[in-house]
Amino acid sequence: MSLFPKESPKLADFGDVLTPAEAIEPILGRPIRGALLEWLGEIFAAAQLEEVGVKPRRRAIFDGPPGVGKTTLAHHLAARLGLLMVAVRPERLVEKYLGSTGRNIGDLFDCVARQQDAQGEPIVLFFDEFDAIAAQRSKATSGAEQEQNTWVNTLLQRIEQHDGFIIAATNFGEHVDKAIWRRFDIHMTLELPGQGEREAILQRYLDPFGLPDRSLKTLAESLATASPALIRALCENLKRQIVLAPILEQDPRREAVFERVLASCHPHPDLGKPRLWSHGAGDQAVELIPWPLPRADALPAEDAPEAPADPDAKIIQLPRRTP
Ligand SMILES: Nc1ncnc2c1ncn2[C@@H]1O[C@H](COP(=O)(O)OP(=O)(O)O)[C@@H](O)[C@H]1O
Ligand SMILES: [Mg+2]
Repeated sequence: MSLFPKESPKLADFGDVLTPAEAIEPILGRPIRGALLEWLGEIFAAAQLEEVGVKPRRRAIFDGPPGVGKTTLAHHLAARLGLLMVAVRPERLVEKYLGSTGRNIGDLFDCVARQQDAQGEPIVLFFDEFDAIAAQRSKATSGAEQEQNTWVNTLLQRIEQHDGFIIAATNFGEHVDKAIWRRFDIHMTLELPGQGEREAILQRYLDPFGLPDRSLKTLAESLATASPALIRALCENLKRQIVLAPILEQDPRREAVFERVLASCHPHPDLGKPRLWSHGAGDQAVELIPWPLPRADALPAEDAPEAPADPDAKIIQLPRRTP
């Protein structure tokens, strides 16, 4: 029994099909931006590389804690290449019936190959939670383990044969089958953001509001160990509360707003608790926030945060490939 009774499943049956237009650029630390620049560079230079008998690398694995931007980065890359991306959900592949998962994996790769042929250009095949389908093979003792080893073998073969881009993301790199891991020629570990990245992430997601330099720095410090996803949730909840407080007749004062904001978004239990959540609305970072929150474009020039000097700015200047 297969999840896909139809003869030819569509890409959308396996996950989300994402177009370049919806992608956003993640805010990343320098090492990752460097690696990304290098990879994009070699893909753009494919023709010159081919002349010397080298092909651009086509398989990357992103490892790192939840909410650091693995999916965002894969989508951004696909967009930079002007390509569609299919973000495969493991639960669409894994089935309990004997042989079904392996068959689904085969169907997925066939479907991507068909689509690539039909549209005459590659598709980025993105596996989220890769460890769920590419778990380390074991000396199988149970039927379930045997079944899993069988589909991991299938996956390994199909990855090797596939002509196109494959990106895999995992929070548990150490659980991924070693032989599969070796088939990927780029391994990137995405770390939690540092102080500079946290400031940039706050600025992006607080927009159209903004904070004076000192307040921005202190708030970013209180968010050490927070993931970008958590900082985004914090900013969006804050904006929501600011708009809703008068409508719902809630206490509009800064500490009251922060209490509600902090109660409505929480750090991932595996990532430790940033200071802001330990101290709560009484944190010194909250005290320093001007209230009502000013608009970014209304900050006096001497208070406005300086744009950080960006030695990797050239990454932004690489052309976007148009299909
Ligand atoms: N580095 C980043 N810069 C800006 N926004 C980010 C970043 N990382 C994550 N986000 C935001 O957090 C959310 C979750 O990110 P996602 O890419 O799904 O993380 P992951 O795949 O690592 O779990 C996304 O909505 C994204 O906008
Ligand atoms: Mg993700």
